[in-house]
Amino acid sequence: MKALILSGGKGTRLRPITHTSAKQLIPIANKPIIYYGLEAIRDAGITDIGIVVGETKNEIKTALGDGKKWGVKLTYIEQEAPLGLAHAVKISEKFLKKDPFVMYLGDNIVKDGVNSFIDEFKKSKPNAMILLAHVKNPQEFGVAELKNGKVVRLEEKPGKPKTDLALVGVYLFDHNIFKAIRHIKPSRRNELEITDAISYLINKKFSVQSHIITGWWKDTGKLEDLLEANRIILDGLEPSRKGRVDSESKLYGKVVVEKGAIVSKSVIRGPAIIGSGAKITNSYIGPFTSVSSNAVIENSEIEHSMVLENSKIENISRIEDSLIGKSVVVSKYPHKPAAYRFMLGDSSQVGVV
Ligand code: G1P
Repeated sequence: MKALILSGGKGTRLRPITHTSAKQLIPIANKPIIYYGLEAIRDAGITDIGIVVGETKNEIKTALGDGKKWGVKLTYIEQEAPLGLAHAVKISEKFLKKDPFVMYLGDNIVKDGVNSFIDEFKKSKPNAMILLAHVKNPQEFGVAELKNGKVVRLEEKPGKPKTDLALVGVYLFDHNIFKAIRHIKPSRRNELEITDAISYLINKKFSVQSHIITGWWKDTGKLEDLLEANRIILDGLEPSRKGRVDSESKLYGKVVVEKGAIVSKSVIRGPAIIGSGAKITNSYIGPFTSVSSNAVIENSEIEHSMVLENSKIENISRIEDSLIGKSVVVSKYPHKPAAYRFMLGDSSQVGVV
């Protein structure tokens, strides 16, 4: 069995972060999103993995390398434009050959991994298996209709969803999917939709199994999703203290202080993670916050937020529900006239009080 991880796409809903970084590399609890998928696949015993890359290919390649770090072999497959998930499968046929495979969307996190689905697929050998989850906003996903437990219809982002069962970004296929893709046409958004290819299989009476997942899963397309993913993953971390914490600081609950981090005169309420080389001074770090490596937080309060590498927050009280990108500076301007002073990238969002 092989695997295909998709890591193209533009991440328009996460601008400006995605103007300069692939969405799959945004760190959740200080670890790039795509690592979670890669590790889930590795843990299911699959070592031959194709990575479909687009515009951000260089960054993705730098982050994943040849896969040795994870004990897997990675093959990069370039998609010249984001022409759809089914298009990504189509251009990967040479790599996948006749092998059954799991396709994993690189911006999805499935907390409990994918072992059980892969085992089930191997045992019952359907032509395709899809994972479904009950969601509150089905119109933003592919939506499935079931009859007596069988999938009878799939619709991609319907205006009026008939159920609340969304397609999760993990799919299992045998080689018949290539035939299905050859029969479908681009959708309204001009993409070859995997949903349409699976619908073809259903209509032609191939066996398509579904599995409703009950564990936590997230498609991290928007800020709220990232914050939620960060919350859930942080909550599952084992507390550890490898960095330096001075005697004037207090740590409560699940707090990870990575090697080389320095915490002084501060209060950290977990779940929270402080990355290597980060410096927290005279500050409050509240629950569900991750501070990436080499970030500096001084005389500030921050909660339920993500601060990426090399950023600096000084004399700010208080930040919540925020994603601060890399090498960002947020500080108080000490001179008159007292005013907000911004230099914001395109599509930035600021909420002032
Ligand atoms: C894609 C699929 C959709 C699925 C979703 C899961 O949507 O087209 O059917 O429900 O992934 O993450 P996209 O994220 O490309 O809009």
